[in-house]
Amino acid sequence: MTKIAVLVSGGGTNLQALIDAQQAGKIENGQISLVVSSNPKAYALERAAKAAIPSEVLRRRDFSDAEEYGKALTALLENADIGLIVLAGFMTVLPDSFCRHFENRIINVHPSLIPSFCGEGFYGLRVHEAALAKGVKVTGATVHFVSEVVDGGAIIAQKAVEVEDSDTPETLQRRVMEQAEWKLLPRATELVCRAITEEEN
Ligand code: GAR
Repeated sequence: MTKIAVLVSGGGTNLQALIDAQQAGKIENGQISLVVSSNPKAYALERAAKAAIPSEVLRRRDFSDAEEYGKALTALLENADIGLIVLAGFMTVLPDSFCRHFENRIINVHPSLIPSFCGEGFYGLRVHEAALAKGVKVTGATVHFVSEVVDGGAIIAQKAVEVEDSDTPETLQRRVMEQAEWKLLPRATELVCRAITEEEN
């Protein structure tokens, strides 16, 4: 059974989708064992507490640079024997050394169809603002492996979502979450956990 750490910074609706999937028996090859938040006020921490999942807060500003932050995070994850790291709205960019150390062991959910509206500066609501500014008629979400290139790792799963004429960034964000992210992330998590289990046997 692969131990999963979910890294969060905010509301944690994707964490909730993972917890719900776990409780529904849909993540058979993994166990959500730890939640790490870069923000002490993240509502995601309450979701973890309600589900009795241990959590830790690691603030970027408490470390001199990204490298030191990455080292502390690595120690935390290794002490907990974590086999898969899921970035679910984690807003701190991780150093290259961290991404290399956990190669093929970190996945991320991004709220667009990569390679559209991704890379540095594209996160959260900004992604949907950019999609509406461009006038795309279809957007969606992507789950991908995390590499040194921001949003550049191998794609695991994608789902398209229609844009409506009356959309605001907020309504579009909500639809992308409901129709794509909350389904895609638990499925991709189970897929990768299953691959890890098969690899180890
Ligand atoms: C989600 O839409 C996620 O895809 C996005 O932040 C939101 C977090 O929501 N992540 C990124 O933009 C990463 N580049 P949540 O805290 O409610 O899960």
